[in-house]
Amino acid sequence: MNLSLEGKNAVICGSSQGIGLAIAAELALLGANCTLMARNEETLQAAVKTLDIALRQQHGYLVADFTNTENVKQAIRQHVQHTPVHILVNNTGGPAPGSVLTATEEAFTQAFKQHLIVNQILAQAVVPSMKEAGYGRIINIISTSIRIPITGLAVSGTVRGAVAVWSKILANEVGQFNITVNNILPGSTKTQRLESLIQNTAQKRGVSREVVEHEMQQDIPMKRFGEASELGAVAAFLASPAASYVNGVSIPVDGGKTGAL
Ligand SMILES: NC(=O)c1ccc[n+]([C@@H]2O[C@H](COP(=O)([O-])OP(=O)(O)OC[C@H]3O[C@@H](n4cnc5c(N)ncnc54)[C@H](OP(=O)(O)O)[C@@H]3O)[C@@H](O)[C@H]2O)c1
Repeated sequence: MNLSLEGKNAVICGSSQGIGLAIAAELALLGANCTLMARNEETLQAAVKTLDIALRQQHGYLVADFTNTENVKQAIRQHVQHTPVHILVNNTGGPAPGSVLTATEEAFTQAFKQHLIVNQILAQAVVPSMKEAGYGRIINIISTSIRIPITGLAVSGTVRGAVAVWSKILANEVGQFNITVNNILPGSTKTQRLESLIQNTAQKRGVSREVVEHEMQQDIPMKRFGEASELGAVAAFLASPAASYVNGVSIPVDGGKTGAL
């Protein structure tokens, strides 16, 4: 099986920590040159230093705030002028939890911008170089909520659904150029995002975080949370030559929790 990403350039979004950084780590191990994207420059610098360079990979970063679409456009357009992109991982921070009826118009608008519109800007910027190379992999980190919506994650779930439809239509359009577009649907994965969701629930219910954590884990067939590296491994496979005929799918990586086929 050909998993080598030597000579391939990847842009991994939301990658200064958590799932994004774990994906970058796996792509780098397979030989990819990784460009990380997030808001905090110091964290990005530290993250780049953790990536494997045994195969003389060149890593770097772009600072951009995904709530500012002009900022993202500028950063990616400058980048593609000198670096063709073969792999794009769309990922960013998740919207705050809450109900549909209490969500503000601004929360919806911002989440659509940060998730859907930014994906669109990035895809439009990188697809030309993917076409030219005859190799492209677009991987969107979404959520299992596109299969079974999660009560209490109203804005997040709504925008995830939109991203999944966008992704499928894009897959239909670009497959003919050997560009695949697939989604990873993380279940509960040990990151800062998960910790803040646990603490938020614990506070609302007036119980300890341990109680919430235990209950959540009991609801997962594997009785544990996922490691970010377990998500990274699936993304690395999808990015590789070996996954050349996997296109337009959504893969839950959730220890079996999603109760749908
Ligand atoms: N962890 C889970 O259990 C889980 C489950 C289902 C879905 N997900 C989804 O998977 C995605 C990644 O989750 P995670 O747990 O890895 O999250 P995380 O630990 O909060 O990491 C989020 C990353 O995105 C960056 N980011 C946040 N806001 C940004 C912005 N406005 N512009 C640019 N970059 C931004 C952060 O860096 P900066 O702060 O420096 O910008 C960080 O690198 C999220 O959308 C999350 O909702 C996670």
